[in-house]
Order: sequence, then C-alpha cells, then structure tokens
Amino acid sequence: MKKGILVFILFVIGIFAGYFIVSGSLKPQPTGDDISFSHYAHTTLHKIKCVSCHRGVETQEMASVPNIQVCSMCHSTLMNPKSEREKKIYEYVKENKTIQWKIYYHVPDYVMFSHRRHVKLGKLECTDCHGDMTKQTSPDLKNVSAIKMQFCFSCHEDKKVTTDCNNCHH
Ligand code: HEC
Ligand code: HEC
Ligand code: HEC
Ligand code: HEC
Ligand code: HEC
Repeated sequence: MKKGILVFILFVIGIFAGYFIVSGSLKPQPTGDDISFSHYAHTTLHKIKCVSCHRGVETQEMASVPNIQVCSMCHSTLMNPKSEREKKIYEYVKENKTIQWKIYYHVPDYVMFSHRRHVKLGKLECTDCHGDMTKQTSPDLKNVSAIKMQFCFSCHEDKKVTTDCNNCHH
C-alpha cells in the first residue's frame, strides 16, 4: 500500500517537472505589449524629441523603431522608483532584452519611400502622415490607418511634386 502511494507521488512530481521543462522551453519572446510604452509620457510630459529615438528619420529612408540600446540611454538608472512601469523597462535594460514592437506603418517593397526626403528636404511634419503621436499612451496605437497610394499622390499633386509612376515604383 505505502509503495503505491510513493509511486503515485513520484508520478505526480514527474508530471510537474515535465510541465515546467516544456513550458520553460516554449516560453514566448517578450512582445511590445509587455512594456507599456507611452509617447505621451516621453514627448508631451517630458519634451523628448522624436529623433532621439527614431534616429534615422532625418538622414535615412527608415525612421527606425528604437531597440533596447536606445532605451538604455535613459533607463539604466531608475528615475522614479515608485513607478512599476518604469521599473519594468529598467529590468529589461539590465538584462538587455529584445522588445518585439508591433509595426503599423509599412509600404510594400516595390514602393520607394524615404523619411530624409520628406522630413529634411520636404520639411514636412510627422503629423502630416502619422497623425498626432504625442497623444498615444500605449503601443496599441489608436486611430492609425495604412498609408495608401492615393494619400501619397494627392499630396504630391498639391505640392507640385512629380507623380510619375517610376518616381515611387521600381
Ligand atoms: C510623407 C509622409 C511621412 C512623414 C512626413 C513621416 N513619415 Fe514616418 N512613415 C511614413 C511611411 C510611408 C512609413 C512606412 C515606411 C516603410 O514601410 O518603409 C513610415 C514609417 C515610420 C516608422 C516605422 C518604420 C520605420 O522605421 O520607418 C516610424 C517610427 C516613423 N515613420 C516615424 C516618423 C517620424 C518620427 C516622423 C517625423 C519626424 C515621420 N515618420 C514623418 C510616412 C511618413
Ligand atoms: C531621452 C531619455 C529617454 C529615453 C531614450 C527613453 N525614456 Fe522612457 N522615460 C524617460 C523619462 C524621463 C520617463 C519618466 C520617468 C518617470 O517619471 O517614471 C520615462 C518613463 C518611461 C516609462 C514609464 C512611463 C509611465 O507611464 O509610467 C516606460 C515604460 C518607459 N519610459 C519606456 C521606455 C522605452 C521602452 C524606451 C526605449 C524605446 C524609453 N523609455 C526610452 C526618458 C526616456
Ligand atoms: C523615447 C523614445 C521615443 C520617442 C521620443 C518617440 N518615439 Fe515613436 N516610437 C517609440 C517606440 C518604442 C515605438 C514602438 C512602440 C509604439 O508604437 O508605441 C514607436 C513607434 C512610433 C510610430 C509607429 C511606428 C510603426 O510603424 O508602428 C510612429 C509613427 C512614431 N513612433 C512617431 C513618433 C513621433 C512623431 C515622435 C515625436 C513626436 C516620436 N515617435 C517620439 C519610441 C519613441
Ligand atoms: C504630405 C505630403 C506628402 C506625402 C503624403 C507624400 N509625399 Fe513624397 N514628397 C513630398 C514632397 C514635398 C517632396 C519633395 C521633397 C524635396 O524637396 O526633395 C516629396 C518627394 C518624394 C519623392 C522624391 C521625388 C523626386 O523628385 O525624386 C518620392 C520618391 C516620394 N516623395 C515618394 C512618396 C511616397 C511613396 C509617398 C507615400 C507613401 C509619399 N511620397 C507621400 C510630399 C509628400
Ligand atoms: C507618390 C507615390 C506614388 C506614385 C507617383 C505612384 N504610386 Fe503606385 N503605389 C504607391 C504606394 C505607396 C503603393 C502601396 C500602397 C497601396 O497599395 O495603396 C502603391 C501601389 C500601387 C499598385 C498596387 C496597388 C494595389 O491595389 O495592388 C499599383 C498597381 C500601382 N501602385 C501603380 C501605379 C501606377 C501605374 C502609377 C503611375 C500612374 C503609380 N502607381 C504612381 C505610391 C505611388
């Protein structure tokens, strides 16, 4: 009888151990949703410039979405120890964790688009194409719509920029 119980206990422990090994190895990578990033907190409350994080926006095609090294410029120290949300990014920075942000704005590969051209040479504002990002309080962006050809086209017509097909397409 006693032996039966022992076998049963070992059996149960085995199941748990197996569960932890499997669940450990299948643990998903952290996603942007783990970190409650807020554009409002960074750009409205603290007047941090867009280019501090989107470093390519004046010089390259891609604005770039910041990785953990960019966050580490400020979050390798804990500025407000009372904020649980800030503590989480502080810990991510210490562990050098990758954050997989969801990407909303994307044009297909057959379209040529350059931020430098529009922001630096064309002197356009971010709001002209992305709406008011300074009000976004979470990585689940609100009121975002995909940029379609017609949108590019009508601004080019307004501003008397070429609307040649080859201009935007390879
Ligand atoms: C003329 C319209 C336009 C303007 C102005 C503009 N963007 Fe963009 N943005 C786009 C388009 C189109 C994409 C998608 C690009 C792609 O898929 O290659 C994009 C993508 C992005 C992305 C994500 C992908 C990436 O790395 O490029 C970020 C971040 C971004 N823009 C930030 C900004 C900021 C900051 C400004 C202002 C300084 C700005 N944009 C001004 C049209 C614009
Ligand atoms: C130029 C400095 C700077 C950079 C770069 C920066 N932050 Fe911050 N961040 C701040 C400041 C200042 C605060 C406000 C501190 C506070 O009161 O909690 C803050 C607060 C936060 C908070 C807490 C906000 C809240 O609503 O409680 C989170 C989360 C955060 N940052 C995430 C990030 C992430 C993710 C990155 C990288 C993509 C990043 N930060 C890059 C300066 C920065
Ligand atoms: C402290 C760093 C930081 C600053 C400053 C910042 N951003 Fe961002 N931005 C991020 C991060 C992180 C993401 C990805 C998470 C998200 O969408 O909230 C992002 C995403 C975006 C996107 C969406 C990209 C996509 O395709 O999903 C746009 C557009 C953008 N930012 C524009 C701006 C503009 C405009 C400003 C200035 C008014 C600005 N950002 C300032 C860190 C920053
Ligand atoms: C809000 C207005 C606006 C929107 C929207 C816009 N553009 Fe432009 N675009 C401009 C302006 C202004 C210039 C001229 C910049 C300069 O002075 O070089 C330009 C220039 C260009 C050029 C270079 C033109 C040349 O003469 O070689 C390309 C390519 C281009 N845009 C593609 C796009 C694409 C693709 C989109 C949509 C994803 C887009 N643009 C959306 C205003 C806009
Ligand atoms: C100012 C930039 C711009 C110009 C000029 C332009 N396009 Fe586009 N085109 C885009 C963008 C951005 C997309 C991708 C977004 C979308 O599907 O609307 C696109 C998508 C397309 C597609 C695929 C759309 C679909 O529904 O599958 C075709 C086909 C196309 N363009 C043809 C043309 C032709 C033909 C011309 C010349 C008359 C032209 N384009 C001029 C920016 C441009």
